[in-house]
Amino acid sequence: MKLGRVATTVGKLRADLIAVPIVAGVPVSRELAELDKESGGKLLREVRRRSSEPGKQGALSIYQTHGEMRADLIVAIGVGRAEAQRLEPEAWRRFAGQAIDAARGARAKSVAISVASAGAGEPALAALGAVVEGALLADYQIEGWKTARGGFRVERCTIAGAPASRGADRVVARAEALADATRFARDLINGPAEQVTPDHLGRISKRLGREHGLTVHVHGPDEMKRLKMGAILAVGRGSRNEPRLIELIHRPRRGSSAGPVALVGKGITFDSGGLSLKPPASMEIQKRDMAGGAAVLGAMQAIAALKPDIEVRGYVAAAENMPGGRAYRPGDVLRSFNGKTIEVLNTDAEGRLVLADALGWAAVGGFGRRVKPRWMVDLATLTGAVTTALGRSIAGVMGTDRELVRRLIEIGRETGEPMWELPLVDEYVSGMDSSIADLKNVGDGTAGTIYGGLFLREFTAGLPWAHLDIAAVAYTDKGRPYVPRGAVGWGVRTLVGLVERAAQEG
Ligand code: BES
Ligand code: MN
Ligand code: ZN
Repeated sequence: MKLGRVATTVGKLRADLIAVPIVAGVPVSRELAELDKESGGKLLREVRRRSSEPGKQGALSIYQTHGEMRADLIVAIGVGRAEAQRLEPEAWRRFAGQAIDAARGARAKSVAISVASAGAGEPALAALGAVVEGALLADYQIEGWKTARGGFRVERCTIAGAPASRGADRVVARAEALADATRFARDLINGPAEQVTPDHLGRISKRLGREHGLTVHVHGPDEMKRLKMGAILAVGRGSRNEPRLIELIHRPRRGSSAGPVALVGKGITFDSGGLSLKPPASMEIQKRDMAGGAAVLGAMQAIAALKPDIEVRGYVAAAENMPGGRAYRPGDVLRSFNGKTIEVLNTDAEGRLVLADALGWAAVGGFGRRVKPRWMVDLATLTGAVTTALGRSIAGVMGTDRELVRRLIEIGRETGEPMWELPLVDEYVSGMDSSIADLKNVGDGTAGTIYGGLFLREFTAGLPWAHLDIAAVAYTDKGRPYVPRGAVGWGVRTLVGLVERAAQEG
């Protein structure tokens, strides 16, 4: 889909489908009035006939012009109430997503999306960025596996009534980079585990480095042995697909006073559970267990394009968790990179094991061991329990730094990646006591998500750190505006937002 932008209002455009927002509780917008006039008053009559609450978020009415107007179809989409005269970026993202979905449904090749009602200045720029993201993300389709020809694709999307300035150019370029990166992450997550192996993630990362100017190190089992990363080695041993610890480095052009940020992703390319084998229904979905790693790769791609003035190190702990003759066993004791010993009781709690080594490595500064990170953030499809705790719409966040957690939550609200904090309850730590090692890799059977966080904290060397449990949000079986069924690409935009803000503050 080609994306364009014009300052003229939507009524002056020719397109197969025109989409206009309806804000709840405000009088009819100029663009809608303009279109309505052209329709001889039929458009608004139709909208009001179709819906008692046309401004309600998601409400959609389609008007057929029967060749009487410059578009075949006019679609009015409710975007909800504007707080303080201003719609949240997420409302714009959904609006654009619904517009593209409607166009696909109606087989409209060209779409015009109106953002004129965002007004001018900063709110208009925010709306523009969100609409670009929403449109490009809605246009995403999984490709390469269906033998039948793919579904209908929208060819052209024009954003109308958009601000025209250098600032607007920058906003669009940034939104395109974010959408690209999110789509890249989705592709990796949707890819079957037979193809997306740890080695594949390593190769993709190398290519990312070459094409975008990142320094990339891919550590295989030999290097891991030298570095004494006993945990990720153990998890990877049951598979013929060897583990990789991937490290991508973005260095700022200008020297920056801001300390480096470390982004760490769980990259289990398939989680069978290992010898503590999962039942079939739970295993069916486990190609997605590298969604945290994919988010880190996507974020690093966008960061390489946007070049914030701050050092960022992305780490992906990639391994395949399989039962096999060499697989690690319940009862085994592992020694992780930071020296702590771990008794394995359940080989299905493998995410925290690979992350233990990756976080330990990130905490000493990674390759070169130069500077410790000022912030560490990890993303992981870590526990099924987070679905029970929070459902499928919000991620769980835990951490040792109030400011970092607060910012993640705030940025997540803007990027449409909401999260909720769970407490790291110190009293529960004894639930990981082991009779033979420093700790065991499971808790006491309660508070599964919190135990995941508590375990990881042991490997953060007391540095400011936050953990995002994305097991419930990484994937959607239903699909929603701008998020088609399948991988969501959750976290890419929030990670980039966090890094950008840290860079601006220096
Ligand atoms: N990859 C799973 C968590 C998961 C579940 C991700 C469903 C996506 C969808 C993780 O490795 C796991 O198996 N966690 C265990 C931990 C337990 C053994 C302590 C779980 O949640 O049951
Ligand atoms: Mn598991
Ligand atoms: Zn897992």
